[in-house]
Amino acid sequence: MRVLFLVAIVGARQSLSYSRGSLCRSQPGDSGFPTAALWDKLNEQVEGRLVSVVPAAKACKEVGCTLSQWESGLYEANVPGSMNSYNWEQDYTSVPPSLCFYNYNGTACGQGRVPLYAVNAPSAADIQAGVKFASNHSLRVAIKSSGHDYLGRSTQKNSLLLWTQHLKDISFTDSFIVNKVNLGSAVTVGSGVGLHALYNASKVQGKMIVGGSAVTVSAAGGYVQGAGHSAFSPLFGLAADNALQFEVVIADGTLVTANAQSHSDLFWALRGGGAGSWGVVTAATFRTYPTFNITGHAADVTMTSPNQAGAVLKAHAAHIFDWDDVHAGQYFYLYNLPAPNITMTLWTLFANTSAEAAIAKMAPFFNDTRALGATISDERTSTGLANDIVQHSGSDDSTGANAILGSRLIPASIYQSNQSLIGETYTTLLEQGLYQVTRRLISSALGKVSQDGNISSAVTPKWRTAKTHVILTQTWPDTATPAQVEQLKEELTNKHMPVLIAMTGETDSGSYSNEADVREPNFQETFFGPNYERLLAIKAIYDPNDLFIVGAGVGSERWDVEGLCKL
Ligand SMILES: Cc1cc2nc3c(=O)[nH]c(=O)nc-3n(C[C@H](O)[C@H](O)[C@H](O)COP(=O)(O)OP(=O)(O)OC[C@H]3O[C@@H](n4cnc5c(N)ncnc54)[C@H](O)[C@@H]3O)c2cc1C
Ligand SMILES: *[C@@H]1O[C@H](CO)[C@@H](O)[C@H](O)[C@H]1NC(C)=O
Ligand SMILES: *[C@@H]1O[C@H](CO)[C@@H](O)[C@H](O)[C@H]1NC(C)=O
Ligand SMILES: *[C@@H]1O[C@H](CO)[C@@H](O)[C@H](O)[C@H]1NC(C)=O
Ligand SMILES: *[C@@H]1O[C@H](CO)[C@@H](O)[C@H](O)[C@H]1NC(C)=O
Ligand SMILES: *[C@@H]1O[C@H](CO)[C@@H](O)[C@H](O)[C@H]1NC(C)=O
Ligand SMILES: *[C@@H]1O[C@H](CO)[C@@H](O)[C@H](O)[C@H]1NC(C)=O
Ligand SMILES: *[C@@H]1O[C@H](CO)[C@@H](O)[C@H](O)[C@H]1NC(C)=O
Ligand SMILES: *[C@@H]1O[C@H](CO)[C@@H](O)[C@H](O)[C@H]1NC(C)=O
Ligand SMILES: *[C@@H]1O[C@H](CO)[C@@H](O)[C@H](O)[C@H]1NC(C)=O
Repeated sequence: MRVLFLVAIVGARQSLSYSRGSLCRSQPGDSGFPTAALWDKLNEQVEGRLVSVVPAAKACKEVGCTLSQWESGLYEANVPGSMNSYNWEQDYTSVPPSLCFYNYNGTACGQGRVPLYAVNAPSAADIQAGVKFASNHSLRVAIKSSGHDYLGRSTQKNSLLLWTQHLKDISFTDSFIVNKVNLGSAVTVGSGVGLHALYNASKVQGKMIVGGSAVTVSAAGGYVQGAGHSAFSPLFGLAADNALQFEVVIADGTLVTANAQSHSDLFWALRGGGAGSWGVVTAATFRTYPTFNITGHAADVTMTSPNQAGAVLKAHAAHIFDWDDVHAGQYFYLYNLPAPNITMTLWTLFANTSAEAAIAKMAPFFNDTRALGATISDERTSTGLANDIVQHSGSDDSTGANAILGSRLIPASIYQSNQSLIGETYTTLLEQGLYQVTRRLISSALGKVSQDGNISSAVTPKWRTAKTHVILTQTWPDTATPAQVEQLKEELTNKHMPVLIAMTGETDSGSYSNEADVREPNFQETFFGPNYERLLAIKAIYDPNDLFIVGAGVGSERWDVEGLCKL
């Protein structure tokens, strides 16, 4: 526990008195910004759990933590001011820039986009007090559970953070009832429960849930609100498809239950309508399944040139339907290490399949790959309960990096019609110098994600016809200048993404809002498709004053980039 960073408030920040006017959130220096006495009052209401948020690298330095600790998912989840993609802690655009990295020098450590204060809430009541306080004083708020967010949405400049990491309850039932209908076996989890704890607790019950591969992601945080994909989605659908109920503190501070019967409009929005835009989820209930054995199969493929990589990726596209009959889920990481060292790691999860059968399922693709001159190494399998095998990184994730993403859901039809185009696209991206392409195989013609298309929720329909979700990633060292960082962001949006978009054809193929470019030009259509208008209408009911605004989220077009002033 990093109690050391949880320094109780002993007085308000220095304030200069001027007003930005009613169209802006109240910030330090504004006349409406809460006085020290008011912050103290909030601190009493939450029983001393209001904390000053220290930039993560500074907190790290204070306790002498190591670089690997600073870059660990558990550290990032347990320090309020920390993000996996720590570039989002930085304010590159202020003059001078306000930055704080692990190797910062002397006193040069700025608050950046790190919140000012946090309510460290172990209960919904603390969240309610924080939300009421923020509404009353028109504060900028941030909501954070794990800090995994790739779009920088769980840290906000000059904000009060509603920190849900310590909402840790887990409870199972064999019959979850909504409106007198028995929805069967389910688990209710607090918003701070990481997947490691949830997979382990489910195992004890002989159950399994739909969850991702990174064990520090919070199932009942942003993950499910975005949609939530899993290696088991081809079998069981998206996390949002399996969500049965949410408990959520809405902008007026009320704790409401949203399910098919109660606040069903909010329930619809919380399943796919985007993270952080609806209120603070304190708990969510998910369907569970009897657990099962799986084989996890992994291998590394090394390629010597972008052209050879393109040929291998074309072969992969040709084989991508090989794994459908067993509903396998596949993760795929292509790293643009300096040639001759382009590396692809494949990790495929096969339910109810032996190691031998899994190897046989991969063999035709590997045969073609070898014929193209690429090297396959370290082919490995592990077989056991899904709960254990899915946790390939153990109880922590190594996640810390400067990173930005852009992505597209790739329709199955492209894989059927034009495998050459897919290969050429990868060649071009590698030649452009993009650092990494990640692909997650999520669905299939036979898959449950497609079959769940009749569920009425805010999940964009593009998920239902997608074969994969392809993510472009760019990274940079801490020493990059703000101008260099801006250039990489520009290139992601305007140089790399158009290559991927061209592959998907004329129509907008959609993108997954949790793993995406926060600068996505037409995010309303790209993330939410035909659901956007209804999402705006539901937001007007539950959050009429836009307390919960996040980058590229519903209603964010009404605000500046930092969500501090109305446009
Ligand atoms: C290493 C890694 C692996 C990943 N793997 C997968 C994967 O396999 N499948 C997948 O679908 N996604 C995956 N993701 C993406 C993941 O779904 C998103 O990062 C997601 O937003 C994480 O939610 P969180 O609450 O844990 O993170 P946070 O950063 O804490 O929050 C993310 C967003 O959700 C909001 N939020 C958090 N808690 C709450 C709450 N209680 N109430 C309301 N809003 C809240 C935040 O404001 C923010 O907008 C991965 C991300 C990383 C970094
Ligand atoms: C820190 O200071 C050293 C010595 O002045 C310099 O070489 C280095 O680049 C600085 N690091 C950062 C992150 O500013
Ligand atoms: C709202 O703020 C005012 C002062 O601005 C204060 O008197 C009042 O108690 C606050 N109410 C709540 C619910 O915090
Ligand atoms: C979770 O389960 C794994 C595998 O059984 C075990 O190694 C680990 O200690 C467990 N972790 C917790 C926190 O129970
Ligand atoms: C998983 O495999 C083990 C070893 O073969 C077996 O004992 C166990 O019953 C299996 N579990 C399930 C849920 O099928
Ligand atoms: C290729 O990458 C491996 C692992 O990172 C490294 O050991 C090796 O030196 C690299 N080779 C070249 C030619 O860059
Ligand atoms: C695994 O096999 C068992 C036994 O045949 C079956 O009951 C179960 O539904 C299967 N699970 C999955 C996820 O395929
Ligand atoms: C792989 O290729 C070899 C010949 O090079 C062939 O004998 C074998 O059957 C092939 N295996 C598969 C699974 O296609
Ligand atoms: C595949 O894409 C390439 C490149 O855009 C194009 O030239 C070709 O006509 C396409 N082929 C088919 C069958 O659509
Ligand atoms: C969707 O269709 C499937 C198969 O036809 C059916 O079993 C399921 O009940 C339907 N779900 C909804 C929400 O309509």
